[in-house]
Amino acid sequence: MDMLVIRGGTPLRGSVRVSGAKNAALPIMAATLLTDGPVRLSEVPRLADVATLTQLLRFLGVEVEATGNNEISLQVVDRNPCTAPYDLVRKMRASICVLGPLLARRGRARVSLPGGCNIGHRPIDLHLRGLESLGARVRVENGYVIAAARRLRGATIDLAGPQGTTVTGTANIMAAAVLANGATTITSAALEPEIVDLANFLNRLGARISGHGTPVIRVEGVPSLDGGTHTVIPDRIEAATLLMAALATRGEVSIQNVCQHDLHSVVELLRQAGAQVDFDDRTATLAIRHGSQFHPISFSAAPFPGIPTDVQAQLTALFTSGQGTSTVTDTVFPDRFMHVSELCRMGASIERRGDSAVIHGGLRLTGASVMASDLRASAALVIAALGAEGESTIRRVYHLDRGYERLDLKLMALGAQIRRLQDTPEFQVFDGPATLPKAA
Ligand code: EPZ
Repeated sequence: MDMLVIRGGTPLRGSVRVSGAKNAALPIMAATLLTDGPVRLSEVPRLADVATLTQLLRFLGVEVEATGNNEISLQVVDRNPCTAPYDLVRKMRASICVLGPLLARRGRARVSLPGGCNIGHRPIDLHLRGLESLGARVRVENGYVIAAARRLRGATIDLAGPQGTTVTGTANIMAAAVLANGATTITSAALEPEIVDLANFLNRLGARISGHGTPVIRVEGVPSLDGGTHTVIPDRIEAATLLMAALATRGEVSIQNVCQHDLHSVVELLRQAGAQVDFDDRTATLAIRHGSQFHPISFSAAPFPGIPTDVQAQLTALFTSGQGTSTVTDTVFPDRFMHVSELCRMGASIERRGDSAVIHGGLRLTGASVMASDLRASAALVIAALGAEGESTIRRVYHLDRGYERLDLKLMALGAQIRRLQDTPEFQVFDGPATLPKAA
């Protein structure tokens, strides 16, 4: 297992390019199960999660090939497999995105339940209810969702849950409805840019989706989908993470390949706190300069266009060094605070109160040995370590590699002092390989 050793305190300088969005690429790749012709995708980030989904799609009869640095081609060659096994699904929750497309195109699907997660309870009841409304027979048996339908039929489906809407639920139902008989209306649909990207991709292939980017999506069913090409949108969460890394080190960085609309809430929050962030529309570039010391902030992570829950941990890390007391609430995943105890190991003063963290700022963090617990928590620890005094060691960075395309290399190109090392086995008892005593 790799670990990162980071010496903090060097202001980041220079320019860096954002990769394609993980959370757009994954449902788009899954949706190729709906298609008849070849699909070519550009700006696909090289990540562990993309590799996991590639494995799953190959298992489901899709030929997936890398055709360039960030380009892949996908072609369905066998429509018989319908099972997404536990061993593949457990590695990544987004595997649930194959459920709707499998059911819609192959008439049946057997997909392992994705299981627990470090960021809290993550049910899929809204996905299943939506598929039932489209006419599927759905049951959960032995840890698998088993769904069948000769042909799905259009329906009106509301995706509001106790914490708001569901992003991958919207992706699943929208993709399934594309091949349904008749029209589907999805209300309380997710507005996230990744959903808009999925809809744009499907429309390029012949789907008839409208209203994406609003809470009401309408899908007119079509008999089949062709192949086609698509470029995945830039990763707004990676852009926000790089932005905060620059601010944590009081650096001056320009971030290329960003979409201003997708980052609006984060940029506005940081501006209110005193950061200088300028967007150049012509070059799709964000320029960041640290203003004076940050003012305290209070915000609640919320579905788009709110502050994404996927940047809550990074903002928490950044505001440990801001002035005064900041309050961070996460209503989307109220338990997504595993990073707090690790930040406190680095000298932060943060209290947990229900679905909030109260940050007593104004402290300079100091290097420490910390453990990444999930993807965005790892990014938060990287940001904290870059701004801290001295050296930090971040273990379990495989979480980081699941969702960032070599963030360490991008930061090093901006001057960050980072080494990637192989961790030694933590609980090694014996030195060499086991040998059995010779029989007497
Ligand atoms: C997506 O997860 C993202 N993953 C997550 O990104 C992101 O944190 C999340 O949306 C919220 O923005 C992908 O896009 C692959 P949800 P998803 O269903 O779709 C509740 C990252 O770091 N809910 O929108 O699984 C749920 O418990 C990851 O990149 C139900 O109640 O999240 C949560 O409170 C982590 N029933 C809320 O809705 C359901 O059936 C939002 O979850 C589904 C969800």
